[in-house]
Amino acid sequence: KNIALLAGGYSGEFEVSMNSANTVQKHLDAQLYEVYKIVITKKDWTYTGASGENIPVDKNDFSLTINGEKIKFDAAFIIIHGTPGEDGLLQGYLDMLDIPYTNCGLMSSALTFNKSYCNKVVAALDIIHVAKSAHLFKGKAYDTASILQALELPLFVKPAGGGSSIGMTKVKTAEELPGAIERAFREDVQVLVEEFMSGREFSCGAFTEQGAVKVLPITEIISKKEFFDYEAKYTPGMSEEVTPANVPPAMAAKAQGIIAKLYDALNCKGMVRIDFIWDESKDKLYFLEVNTTPGQSEASIIPQQVRAAGMNLGQFYGNLIEECLR
Ligand code: DAL
Ligand code: MG
Repeated sequence: KNIALLAGGYSGEFEVSMNSANTVQKHLDAQLYEVYKIVITKKDWTYTGASGENIPVDKNDFSLTINGEKIKFDAAFIIIHGTPGEDGLLQGYLDMLDIPYTNCGLMSSALTFNKSYCNKVVAALDIIHVAKSAHLFKGKAYDTASILQALELPLFVKPAGGGSSIGMTKVKTAEELPGAIERAFREDVQVLVEEFMSGREFSCGAFTEQGAVKVLPITEIISKKEFFDYEAKYTPGMSEEVTPANVPPAMAAKAQGIIAKLYDALNCKGMVRIDFIWDESKDKLYFLEVNTTPGQSEASIIPQQVRAAGMNLGQFYGNLIEECLR
């Protein structure tokens, strides 16, 4: 089968995506899948041929012409973090061309990629606790005094659409809020200001197998920084990730049940990773976010969880392709 592995993207997570793509390509069974890594930037969509030549994608029918031979794809495996791979844009393009892909569909991708709208929907689902927040739009007036009246410090200020904690600030004093909002607006036109959730941080992957949702073991993230920011995420030694997490089995089972429910309720497809906080003193779980294109570098959380579940990555990625072709 011909598989288009879509990597790169327009966001600050370009390099993260290139690492993820390398892992997927390395592990996918080359006997079963002919993988074409296509790097998407604002400027062009290209496949690099065997002798280093750059071959552009024909966007009219999503094909490549290599040595005069036209190559079409059975499926796409989107491994772009951030726009245009995680927010519904490529999903919409592939839908228009009737090309199956391993990831969540347009609506689930777009919804979950916007942390503000996603919080509202998840809160309405009544599956997991959601922190109080405010949703700001670039160009529309907002009033930090009323935000500070409605929400309790400390606050997290996040670009509504983003990843790897880029543009995110933990705000501890009222004075820091305007600068933090400005920083987040540099990354996106919508901003989420969210109350800080205290507790231990976890992350849990889920995917579909034979049409049914499967949940991976949960991982605890112990950051050496103030929070699990870009540096903590990608600098070896700056965070400790424990898989499976060292928690009471009842907590892990409850969390996994919640993850499965969220996956279903948000109509997810393929692999997603949901991050959450456990407030041990109240035994409450708080929603952080859904990642519909979770990182796949060798040290990333999903690969750790797949191994902890006793699977190998080649089978795991292959299953995602087979599921989207069902
Ligand atoms: N946004 C990064 C890649 C993740 O969620 O793993
Ligand atoms: Mg994320």
